[in-house]
Amino acid sequence: MWEQAYQYRSFEHFKRETFSVIAEIAEQMDGPIRMADVSCGPAVLDGILLTRLGDKIRELHLLDVDSGLLELAKESLSEFSSDLATYVFDLNLPTHYPHLTGLNLVVSTNAIFHATGDLLPNLYGWCHSVLAENGVLINHQAFGPFCQGFDQELARLCPSLQQKGVWDDLDTELARRSLSVQRSSPHDMPGSVGAYAGLSLTVQEHLEILRSTGFVAGEIWRKGTSAMIMAVKEPTPTIAC
Ligand SMILES: C[S@@+](CC[C@H](N)C(=O)[O-])C[C@H]1O[C@@H](n2cnc3c(N)ncnc32)[C@H](O)[C@@H]1O
Repeated sequence: MWEQAYQYRSFEHFKRETFSVIAEIAEQMDGPIRMADVSCGPAVLDGILLTRLGDKIRELHLLDVDSGLLELAKESLSEFSSDLATYVFDLNLPTHYPHLTGLNLVVSTNAIFHATGDLLPNLYGWCHSVLAENGVLINHQAFGPFCQGFDQELARLCPSLQQKGVWDDLDTELARRSLSVQRSSPHDMPGSVGAYAGLSLTVQEHLEILRSTGFVAGEIWRKGTSAMIMAVKEPTPTIAC
C-alpha cells in the first residue's frame, strides 16, 4: 500500500508549495479547526497540517473512494491525538455523501477533477452544507485551459509552467518507485464513475458554481493549469423585524 502512496507523492505537481499555502490559511483561522479532506488519498496533506498546527486541528474527517488508502491514512496519522474519522465516499454518488455539520474547513487536493461536471453543484452544495458560516473550502487541482486560444504559445514560450515546482533526490526516488508499480485507476474502484471526467472544467466554471451555491470565491494560487481556489461560506442574512 505504501507503494501506492509513493505514486501519489511523485506525480503530483507543486505539492510542497500548495500544501504550505493551505497550512498557512489554516494557521490564520481563529480557534479550533474541524475539517474534512475530500479524496484525501494517503493523507499527506493532513500529516503536514497536524505537524504544523498540532491540536489546533481538533477534528479530522477523511473521505476517499479507496478504503485501502483510508486505512493507510489512519495508520500514518495514528501518532496524533486529534479526533479522526474515515468514510468510504464516491464523489459521483451524492446520495451517499456522509452527513457532517459545523465544520470550519474543507480541503481537497488533486482530486475533484474525478467528479463529473454535472455533479459538481451537488458536491459544492454538500461542502456548503457541512460548513458553518464563514467556513472555508479550498480546492487545489488541475483545471481546464486558463488562457483560451493561447495554449500553443504558452507551451512554446513558457514550458516551465507545466513542470514540477520542485524536483530533487526524493522526487527521483519516488518516481523510480512509482514506475515499478501498477497505478490503480479510479475506473477500477467498485461503484466509482467519473475517472478524470472533470479535468476540462475551468476555474471560472468552478467559481460560478461556488458563487451560485452561496460562497464568496476566488482563485488564490496558480501555476499553469494547476490552480487553487478558495471559497468562504457567506453568513445567512438576518431579517430585521
Ligand atoms: C491524485 S490522488 C490525491 C490524493 C490526495 N488528496 C493528495 O493530494 O495527496 C486522487 C484521490 O482521489 C481519489 N478518488 C478517485 N476517484 C474518486 C471518486 N470517484 N470519489 C472519491 N475519491 C476518488 C483516489 O482514491 C485518490 O485518493
